[in-house]
Amino acid sequence: MYRLLRTNAFRLAALYMALFAASVLTLLVFIYFSTADFVERQTEETVGAEITGLQEQYREHGLLGLIEAINSRASAERGEPTLYLLADPRLKRIAGNLANWPQTTAIKSGWVRFTVELTRAGQPVTYDALASVFVLNGDYRLLVGRDLRDAVTFRARVEQTLFFAALLTLALGLIGGLFMTRNVLRRIEAVNRTSASIIQGDLSERVPLTGSGDEFDQLAANLNAMLDRIERLMAGMRQVTDNIAHDLRTPLSRLRARLEVTLLERPDATRYADALSETIAEADQLLGTFNALLSIAEAEAGARREHMAEVELDEIARSVADLYEPVAEEKGLKLTLDIASPAPVRGDRHLLSQAIANLLDNALKYTPEGEVRLTVRHDDVGRVVVEVADNGPGVPADHREHVFDRFFRLENSRSTPGNGLGLSLVRAVAKLHGGEIRLEDNGPGLKAVMILPAAPQRAASLPNRTAA
Ligand SMILES: Nc1ncnc2c1ncn2[C@@H]1O[C@H](COP(=O)(O)OP(=O)(O)O)[C@@H](O)[C@H]1O
Ligand SMILES: [Mg+2]
Repeated sequence: MYRLLRTNAFRLAALYMALFAASVLTLLVFIYFSTADFVERQTEETVGAEITGLQEQYREHGLLGLIEAINSRASAERGEPTLYLLADPRLKRIAGNLANWPQTTAIKSGWVRFTVELTRAGQPVTYDALASVFVLNGDYRLLVGRDLRDAVTFRARVEQTLFFAALLTLALGLIGGLFMTRNVLRRIEAVNRTSASIIQGDLSERVPLTGSGDEFDQLAANLNAMLDRIERLMAGMRQVTDNIAHDLRTPLSRLRARLEVTLLERPDATRYADALSETIAEADQLLGTFNALLSIAEAEAGARREHMAEVELDEIARSVADLYEPVAEEKGLKLTLDIASPAPVRGDRHLLSQAIANLLDNALKYTPEGEVRLTVRHDDVGRVVVEVADNGPGVPADHREHVFDRFFRLENSRSTPGNGLGLSLVRAVAKLHGGEIRLEDNGPGLKAVMILPAAPQRAASLPNRTAA
């Protein structure tokens, strides 16, 4: 409860409640002042009318006429008897249904209040009355009054009603405020609980959504998306460290062992030189593996997103092919290009070159003789497709997913140099660019197909260009 009082949500609810109560109370006060004296005012009007009537009698028929009128009115059978009293200058009764001049208290000019004590049907009756006093010629006084019991009752009734209305308002406001606060707090509590359990180390925890799509749901969805991303980054990091631990330890131990053995044997300059150059080659390979792992991790984490720009994939493909031309020539392979220009994509020039180079490298490396073909074309939905096809041994269909795993190499490839990371990088790069990579049968050989979305702004103008 104490915690509830200290929350912002509660303070807000309390503020709203106070405003709500203040406006309802103002309304109630207004109602009070415009209704509470309603009966009293009516009484005043009735008395006023009586006096006007009697004044007329007095003016037309003099004192005797007035006395007659009073007597007839006082004796007339009426539901609520009006009180009349005509008195002489010494306030002695001349006519009327009051026994003697009462003890009055003036309330406003011409109006007095007093207490009436009567015996009705043998019972003493006491009540308050409101009266107007009119002074006639010769200091005679005429008092006309009426019972105030109804007015008092009515006022009391109004006061009571408004009092309960005010109480009800406050109670409803309080309950509403608490309910609102509780609701808001519950949602925030859910976010807090999840954060707490994430801090404890369970990164797989997610904030529950209510499905209402309100601000809290949006907050929760954003938090969850953020957690997803953090989890993915963490997984990537973990994989790199695992890879380093498992796959780099072996070559490093081998390297160390060789150096140790060389050192233990009889010193010999040629053997030392051989061992050193072998060590350098192995260190280079290790560095290559390191770099490849880092590139993959970077691409997977999207860490190089700021290097994304609109690039011409046809140009990139051509310059990579230029680099590999000598390799093909040396191996007696024919490297054929079929490149459509322009082929704009939004991407990272360095990573895209790396990906195409890896595909070409594989094709040239695993193909003993024949042809390697590099194609860049547009598909029917405007995407850019890069294909590297060879007529080497190919990859069996059941391994075409496996070869994308880090360090995976087919059995018969183990004798060729390589680290088994080339295709992993290609896949990471394709994914980073919102594209895909798959391997197909080239019958014989392998066809690697990489599909990339076309650059956004040019994609729209592409149909125009084909039409023109
Ligand atoms: N064009 C290809 N022809 C035959 N096998 C291939 C081809 N490309 C890739 N592979 C197979 O897929 C494996 C993984 O390729 P990659 O990730 O580039 O690693 P690496 O080339 O270092 O061995 C290779 O070891 C090879 O067995
Ligand atoms: Mg390779």
